[in-house]
Amino acid sequence: MSDNLTIVDHPLIQHKLTILRDKTTSTAQFRQVIREVAFVLGCEVTQDLKLKEVEIETPIEKMTAPYLEGKKLCFVSILRAGNGLLDGLLDLIPSARVGHVGIYRDHETLEAHRYYFKTPDKLGERLVVLVDPMLATGNTAIDAANELKKAGAKAMKFLCLVAAPEGVEKFSAAHPDVPIITAALDRQLNDVGYIMPGLGDAGDRIYGTK
Ligand code: URA
Repeated sequence: MSDNLTIVDHPLIQHKLTILRDKTTSTAQFRQVIREVAFVLGCEVTQDLKLKEVEIETPIEKMTAPYLEGKKLCFVSILRAGNGLLDGLLDLIPSARVGHVGIYRDHETLEAHRYYFKTPDKLGERLVVLVDPMLATGNTAIDAANELKKAGAKAMKFLCLVAAPEGVEKFSAAHPDVPIITAALDRQLNDVGYIMPGLGDAGDRIYGTK
């Protein structure tokens, strides 16, 4: 498998992912748990942010302490399921900027069609974290990353919850410079592009639609 891929193998994430996979999990619980998982995945995706030393004073004494250098961050959610992860990421980093990309998959061809694209300025100065719970065929993520690069993005990561080997291969081939961070690498896609075993349609699970 691609060396671009990091699987975050933390017991809390694996436990919560099992709840998300379970088809008896309610919409309310699904929404809450995906937010919690995103918080932990957010720690992983930002683990190489640079620190600087600052002088502070604790109630006891002065000290030099680490502080974020201030690298600008931008989360870009692929609508609509990306928003389920976005909430947890913003709990962790409330100051991050947010972009949205609207892409739908043609259910016949599985091709990606873009209908919305809005991002903050100075993308080239930011760490851009593209967010979608499911990396399935890879078509949507590839298209979103293409557009972000056209808009100026340079340092980018792709964050998902569950990836299919087919999607990882295709995305890594198209964007070898974009690391993929996921909580699980599943077995394969089925013939209508769903991940097996997966968790079903992430958007439907988050919003209680069918
Ligand atoms: N999108 C989803 O929501 N689920 C899948 O299994 C594949 C794509």
